Amino acid sequence: MIKIFETHAHYDDDAFDEDRYSLLSSLRENGIDKAVNIGANLSTSKATVELTKKYDFMYGVVGVHPSDIRELETEGAIDVIEKLAVENSKVVAIGEIGLDYHYDDADEALQKKWFINQMELARKLKLPIVVHSRDGAKDTMDIMTAENAQDIGGVVHCFSYGKEVAKTFLDMGFYLGVGGVVTFKNGKKLKDVVEYAPLDRIVLETDCPYLAPEPFRGRRNSSLYIPYGAQVIADIKGIDVEELYQITYNNAMKLYRL
Ligand code: NI
Repeated sequence: MIKIFETHAHYDDDAFDEDRYSLLSSLRENGIDKAVNIGANLSTSKATVELTKKYDFMYGVVGVHPSDIRELETEGAIDVIEKLAVENSKVVAIGEIGLDYHYDDADEALQKKWFINQMELARKLKLPIVVHSRDGAKDTMDIMTAENAQDIGGVVHCFSYGKEVAKTFLDMGFYLGVGGVVTFKNGKKLKDVVEYAPLDRIVLETDCPYLAPEPFRGRRNSSLYIPYGAQVIADIKGIDVEELYQITYNNAMKLYRL
């Protein structure tokens, strides 16, 4: 019986409103033994905690994504995140937090400020972090180095940079989250990173409803599609996919300290 650990999903998303219950209820029988839902702002962090209460196999991560970072400028907003983490034992990390410079209106200074502050919250609560970093590799590395992120630990999810950047995060003890992008025809850079990274530092994720693997690219993603990316990773590593599931399951247990 295979056991897959889904490390990064957004089942609170509207895309699942139609069939959330039936889909989530079917995950276990399809080998998804554990799943972590990731908050991206105050309301999805609260929804994440609700999901962890409804489903045995579900754990949660709470925090504010760089794209929603203005929310934290409201007095007391960060305390809401802290309270969610402290009062719910199934909250296993702070995230997703980080830097996203993809869009022109990105407020880089504000993103940095709250990346650091949320990292400090994780340190205080002794929780790992789930890092989102897009088009901002240098600042992400500089901040994490300056903040001694190696003492906090965590994962760089949906890893999108090259080998040199991967090395920096691996040297800090971080895991790399790999999902559907590894199946894309233009996914060569990620394939190279997968080849380079030690097996004991890779975790499986979807980032669903986004980033469905081939042959479903562009459609709604779910944890049920993890096998498509996993097979590509297993082929790169030259191992059976069953072995990959087992190794990445153990990695995820260590990452989230379960
Ligand atoms: Ni995400």
